[in-house]
Amino acid sequence: MNIDFVRSRFIKHFDGTTGELYASPGRINLIGEHTDYNNGFVFPGAVNKGIIAELKPNGTDKVKAYSIDEKDYVEFGLNEEDAPRASWAKYIFGVCREMIKRGVPVKGFNTAFAGDVPLGAGMSSSAALESTYAYALNDMFGDNKIDKFELAKVGQATEHNYVGVNCGIMDQFASVFGKEGSLIRLDCRSLEYSYFPFDPKGYKLVLLNTCVKHALVGSPYNDRRLSCEHVAEVIKAKYPEVESLRDANFDMLEEVKDQLKPEDYSRAKYVIGEVQRVLDVCDALEAGDYETVGKKMYETHFGLSKDYEVSCEELDFLVDVAIDCNVTGSRMMGGGFGGCTINLVKDELYELFIEQAQAKYKEKYGKLPKIYDVVIGDGSRKLVVE
Ligand code: GLA
Repeated sequence: MNIDFVRSRFIKHFDGTTGELYASPGRINLIGEHTDYNNGFVFPGAVNKGIIAELKPNGTDKVKAYSIDEKDYVEFGLNEEDAPRASWAKYIFGVCREMIKRGVPVKGFNTAFAGDVPLGAGMSSSAALESTYAYALNDMFGDNKIDKFELAKVGQATEHNYVGVNCGIMDQFASVFGKEGSLIRLDCRSLEYSYFPFDPKGYKLVLLNTCVKHALVGSPYNDRRLSCEHVAEVIKAKYPEVESLRDANFDMLEEVKDQLKPEDYSRAKYVIGEVQRVLDVCDALEAGDYETVGKKMYETHFGLSKDYEVSCEELDFLVDVAIDCNVTGSRMMGGGFGGCTINLVKDELYELFIEQAQAKYKEKYGKLPKIYDVVIGDGSRKLVVE
C-alpha cells in the first residue's frame, strides 16, 4: 500500500492541503467458513494488503469523496435520505450513518482512498474500506470513544443496512483486530478471541485467485443464512437450548431431517461439521500437526462445494490441481462464488505447484490465476507520516 500515492492524489484533488491518513487490511481465513453468522468459530488473519484513506474535515455538511482507483468523485450529505448511488460510496456513507447512530458527531469531510486488496477476491476489500472509515471517523470526530468491537460492528451494520449483505462479523473483526504474524481464533457468539502466532516452519500459505469476481450483494449468500436460521429453529422446537447451529450436533440434525428440505439439511450438516473443524485445526496447530490442518482444509472445501454449494467450477479446478500436486491443504476461501483458494504448501513443492496451477488453469480457462503469498499484517490504524 502506498501512502505517498494516496497523499499526492488527495492534495491534487482537493485544496492542496493534507489531512490525516488511516489504513485497514483485507483478510484471509484459514478455516471456519460460513460459521460466523451461525455463532460459531472462525480463524482469520489480516493481510498486508488493504485500503489507505486520507480525510480532512471541510467545514460543510457534505462528504466529498474521491475513489482513486475508480477515478470517480461523489458528494453526499449525512442524512439518511442522502445515500449516494455509486456502490463504493455507499460503504463510506453507511459507515458515517452507523457512527452517527452511535452518537459520533460526524461532519463533512474531504477524502480520497485507494487499495491494493483485490476486489471480489474473497479477501474482504469491503470490510477493509468500512474499517478504515470507522476507525478514521472515531479518531477524527469521536475522540476514539467507540471501542474496537463496536467499530467492527459498524462495518457489519453497514453491510446489513446500506449494502444488502447479511454477513457475519468475521471480516470486519479481522480487519480491525489484525495483528502482524498472528491468526485470530474468534468465537462469534461471545466475541472472545485469541491470537495464534502463525509461522508454519517448512510451509507456505499462498492464495490463488481464480479471477472470477464474486459479489455477495443480491447473491445466494443471504439465502444460505436463511437456511441455517430455519434449521436452527426446527431443531430448537425439540431442543430449546439450541439458539443457532453452533449449539446443534449431527444427532439433533438427523432427528429433524424429515422436516427439512434436502438443501437445508445439507447446508446445516456442513455448518455443524465446520464449527468443529475450526477447533480441531487450532488443536492441530498447537501440536505443529500441519498434515491434520491440511486435511481439514480439504474437508472444508468439499463441504462448501457439495453441501453448501458456494464454490464454482474454477475454484474446484484449482483445488483438484492442489490434490494432484500433493499440496497439504487447499480450499476455497471467503463467501464463495469466485475469488481465491487458500493453500498450505510444503516449501519444496511450492514452485512446482504454482507452475502447474498456472499452466493448467491457463490451458483450461485461457487466463492465469493470480498468486498472492500470504503475509499476515496489522489491523486498522492511523498512519504517521514523517
Ligand atoms: C463473507 C462474509 C463473512 C463470512 C464469509 C464466509 O466474507 O462477509 O461474514 O460469512 O463470507 O465465511
